[in-house]
Amino acid sequence: MKKVGIIGVGEYLPKKVLTNADLEKMVDTSDEWITTRTGIKERRIAAKHEATSELALKAAEEALKDAGIKPLDLGLIIVATITPDMQFPSTAAFVQAKLGAKNAAAFDISAACAGFVYALVTAQQFIARGCYKNVLVVGAEVLSTVTDWEDRNTCVLFGDGAGAAVLGEVKSGGFLSTYLGCDGTYTEILNLPGGGSRNPASHKTLESRMHYMKMCGNELFKLAVKIMADAAEKALEKAGLSCDDITCLIPHQANIRIILAVAKRLGLPEDKIYLNIEKYGNISSASTATALCEAVREGRIRKGDIVLLDAFGAGLVWGACVIKW
Ligand code: COA
Repeated sequence: MKKVGIIGVGEYLPKKVLTNADLEKMVDTSDEWITTRTGIKERRIAAKHEATSELALKAAEEALKDAGIKPLDLGLIIVATITPDMQFPSTAAFVQAKLGAKNAAAFDISAACAGFVYALVTAQQFIARGCYKNVLVVGAEVLSTVTDWEDRNTCVLFGDGAGAAVLGEVKSGGFLSTYLGCDGTYTEILNLPGGGSRNPASHKTLESRMHYMKMCGNELFKLAVKIMADAAEKALEKAGLSCDDITCLIPHQANIRIILAVAKRLGLPEDKIYLNIEKYGNISSASTATALCEAVREGRIRKGDIVLLDAFGAGLVWGACVIKW
């Protein structure tokens, strides 16, 4: 098995900023409520012409540049998203064409907010077994298109954006352990019920707002803390490491209180956590992807550091991986 690492990172955030003050004019909420309950101050919103693949493309171009490779060097492209351009073909196919990555196979992964971690773990396998030399992984979402802007329970939480990583063979370090999980008995507490084969799009599904996300926030909150702490512990155990060895935790950015509760359970000091929730809210698969990119760019992750990615999302699904940078 070859050693596999992340050799380049990139991100793209749409220009338009939607602040808590803007939301106060749209629904019955307040900056004070959103800030104290979630840690979110603002989020980005894609322009009308920006589909998920456009955001993904820009993040991918940055990651390829950072890795010092060309689109033609890619053997595979994986896009993690729950807001694809279309039901089919895959968003990864759109990205492949836009990049001109003619030598790359391409597919999407649907693992909600754990999508980027699921995609990293998948990509790592292909390289470790010698199937591909370089794999592009993107987490990209335009959640503003599936957000009910009349529902204060959900609309304050989400945003749009994309993050990307290029994986390749490395001489030392790289992925030390990976851990993925799912409990499909919880599909009811976070989903988008309309438009699929169970509830095909119709006047009825539109009238009952079934094409927007539905969420039981309270229940999710408790599950998220337990699931993320357990996933982190499992990944660390598989790597033969403890929390003291971690330089930087890149958690899924759903709620600052969830993240701090997870860190407390793990006994991880707050200064080891990378946060960008204040600026972007929850961008599902793009949350860990953008946080990783920014942590690298800001020098919070340097050569030799041990990084722990930890995410959970609708399914419920979860994933964690330990990477030596
Ligand atoms: N502004 C003002 N009040 C709001 C509000 C908003 N945007 N959203 C909800 N409220 C109200 C509720 O209606 C409720 O009022 P009530 O007591 O009169 O019924 C009150 O605030 C408390 O609601 P509650 O759900 O108990 O708040 P909370 O502290 O659990 O915070 C979440 C709500 C959604 C922020 C929190 O539960 C959460 O983050 N859950 C996890 C969500 C998540 O992770 N989703 C993505 C998974 S990847």
